[in-house]
Amino acid sequence: MDHPFTVVVAIDFGTTSSGYAFSFTQDPEAIHMMRRWEGGDPGVANQKSPTSLLLTPELKFHSFGFAARDNYHDLDPEEAQHWLYFDKFKMKIHSTTDLTMETELEAVSGRKVRAIDVFSHALRFFRVHALKEVKDQSSSLLEGDEVRWVITVPAVWRQPAKQFMREAAYLAGLVSPDTPEQLLIALEPEAASIYCRKLRLHQVIDLSLRPMTNGLTGESSDRYIVADCGGGTVDLTVHQIEQPQGTLKELYKVSGGPYGAVGVDLAFEAMLCKIFGEDFIESFKAKRPAAWVDLTIAFEARKRTATPGRSNALNISLPFSFIDFYKRYRGQSVETALRKSNMNIVKWSSQGMLRLTPEAMNELFQPTINNIIKHIVRKCGAITLDLPEALPGAVAGAERREIRATMQFGDTEIKVTAVDMVTNQTVRAAIDFLSN
Ligand SMILES: Nc1ncnc2c1ncn2[C@@H]1O[C@H](COP(=O)(O)OP(=O)(O)OP(=O)(O)O)[C@@H](O)[C@H]1O
Ligand SMILES: [Mg+2]
Repeated sequence: MDHPFTVVVAIDFGTTSSGYAFSFTQDPEAIHMMRRWEGGDPGVANQKSPTSLLLTPELKFHSFGFAARDNYHDLDPEEAQHWLYFDKFKMKIHSTTDLTMETELEAVSGRKVRAIDVFSHALRFFRVHALKEVKDQSSSLLEGDEVRWVITVPAVWRQPAKQFMREAAYLAGLVSPDTPEQLLIALEPEAASIYCRKLRLHQVIDLSLRPMTNGLTGESSDRYIVADCGGGTVDLTVHQIEQPQGTLKELYKVSGGPYGAVGVDLAFEAMLCKIFGEDFIESFKAKRPAAWVDLTIAFEARKRTATPGRSNALNISLPFSFIDFYKRYRGQSVETALRKSNMNIVKWSSQGMLRLTPEAMNELFQPTINNIIKHIVRKCGAITLDLPEALPGAVAGAERREIRATMQFGDTEIKVTAVDMVTNQTVRAAIDFLSN
């Protein structure tokens, strides 16, 4: 058979959110993205659906994505303690050193279940959804063995984690263990890189800096770096397009690590533990699980508006049941706890909100950023910019002075140029590889 598969369905199983896309082998360029699902969060744009799973107290699949979250949220708090809600669970597979089929995952309520079952429930959900959509798009009847499945995994995953994903796919009925070639485990950054190669010239130029003449033109010299900053992992790939065949050559070994944006969420949780006590937070999660989910959603929306240059505080509403539960638990108010904690960077607003100052926000992001810089971005030297005091035409007293520095990667050397964005004048820039 020339084309043993009629359709290729790829699942991007993310730490925070997941999605899928498919294309028919007779027209591989026409990529059908997952239909937008219902639901969504205030203040957050979503193309994918949250990687959230809800199981009943009898460990049966209940729902996935926004539906899982919303259903869980609407459960009676007493009842919710018996249900199993999972989110942000993917990285457990990477962090567990002795991963087996028996490795367990803990639901928000504290109940445990085999990780392989959690993954296969999620994959089964995608299988059903994707196949339904494929069938809607296809005129001919589709047999199960005509589908090739692809699941992307982080490049830093070791062999056991990859095999774990494969076993979960078998359990989910994506493919049978008798036809392993029907499932491809692909690397996330490589998939991203192939996508970038497919981007049309003008799209890439739009993203790149104008002074750089060396845009992606499809010439053999085209090299590009893809930085995939996800919830769980950050991966960097450096590829070159080889002509005329158009294949990709890996210029540097892919570098990455478990330093994704979930680290910021964990730092927020740690900050709450510092203020209100770890025992309280644990108990709150177990006893008021829906309110905990609310709090994480509120934080997510605010997290996305944080920027390094921000000068005012970010408000995060504490759910009423947090305030109430704390009062019962400790016999004092949330406000008192904040005052006693000596966390000067977090304030209390009388409207029931935590006010995170820019310093507090920086503190939450810093460990993750430091990890990325330390482990992923390789230091190669230092750039010096020679800035004249005030350039003619600059706005006097302007708080920010934006200098845009551009690096050009050549065969043997890297060049740097810099421009003052206000005056459009070139600034003297030098790069020294000998200083570190
Ligand atoms: N504007 C933003 N500022 C800060 N963080 C953001 C912003 N937008 C998204 N994020 C964070 O990025 C993460 C989601 O990214 P993405 O969807 O790429 O991850 P993922 O595919 O689920 O994870 P992975 O690929 O690592 O398994 C979330 O942690 C989210 O909070
Ligand atoms: Mg991802």
